[in-house]
Amino acid sequence: MKHFLTGAIVAAALATSAQAQQNIVVGHALSTASHYGVGAQAFIDTLTELSGGAFTGEQAPAGQLGGERDMIEGLQIGSLDVVITSTGPLGNFVPEIYALDLPFLFRDYAHARTTLDGDIGQELLDKIGENNLVGLAWSENGFRHVTNSQHAVRTPADLDGLKLRTMENKVHMAAFQGMGASPTPMAFPELFTALQQGVVDGQENPVTVITASKFWEVQKYVSLTGHVYSPAVVLASPILLDGLSDEQRGWFQAAADASAAATRAEVNRLEEAGVALLRENGMEVITDIDKAPFAELAAASSYSVYTDQYGTEMVERIQAVK
Ligand code: PAF
Repeated sequence: MKHFLTGAIVAAALATSAQAQQNIVVGHALSTASHYGVGAQAFIDTLTELSGGAFTGEQAPAGQLGGERDMIEGLQIGSLDVVITSTGPLGNFVPEIYALDLPFLFRDYAHARTTLDGDIGQELLDKIGENNLVGLAWSENGFRHVTNSQHAVRTPADLDGLKLRTMENKVHMAAFQGMGASPTPMAFPELFTALQQGVVDGQENPVTVITASKFWEVQKYVSLTGHVYSPAVVLASPILLDGLSDEQRGWFQAAADASAAATRAEVNRLEEAGVALLRENGMEVITDIDKAPFAELAAASSYSVYTDQYGTEMVERIQAVK
């Protein structure tokens, strides 16, 4: 009897300590030094601290676990715990999210952050929750700009025939088609090699990503088109979160909020310092761009991808946010 009790106590202690050491994997597409890496580390540090070490964490950076679309699927089947991703591929899972990917919709960072931190952002996080995912917090990628290896882009005519990698996002593809480029959707982990080998001439991403990925090694020109705001979101697996207590879910929520805040602070820093870094590394940075003709063509070709299905209400609500 004595032996049995001792064995049971040891087994219970082992079970508790196994629970106490749950290690969370946070996947993202960029390096640990990037704005996503900073956000992933803030998530891990906050979760570890709040849980008193019951949860620890590690990053799976640089697309180690696949492109953003693969990682989102990983959350749905429970092979991955937490992902920081742009909304690029998310519309394939939660079509209402395409509203956020419309070009020239957000005026500036303040407009985007106020929108996402308010009712609209919460409604869209709730929509994510209806699609076998948990949307914890709105993080950030940044305003996207066009880079390419061929020539300076100042007007839509300069995009003519340019083979441009876009995200796997039908709103973005329609926008670039309208602006005159030849959009080629591709997962991010394939992009650097595709640029290097001339499979595509260019791509579009925020300064944060262009610097983190050292695209100056394969791209000469960057045009500050700011054609679309690229939100990011901290997502979790429902398979993981459904098994947690309210207190534990609270730790995950706080970790996601800390992650989003840290990423946005890093975006702010790189928006200040990043353009100089691009120049230092030999890129020609084109700043004298009249955005109006880009905006007109992009809106004409892409807004209907969203509004044909969902109407114009969400677009008007976002435009009205002060
Ligand atoms: O271009 C993309 O696919 C995204 O902007 C990236 C770089 C994966 C960050 O979310």
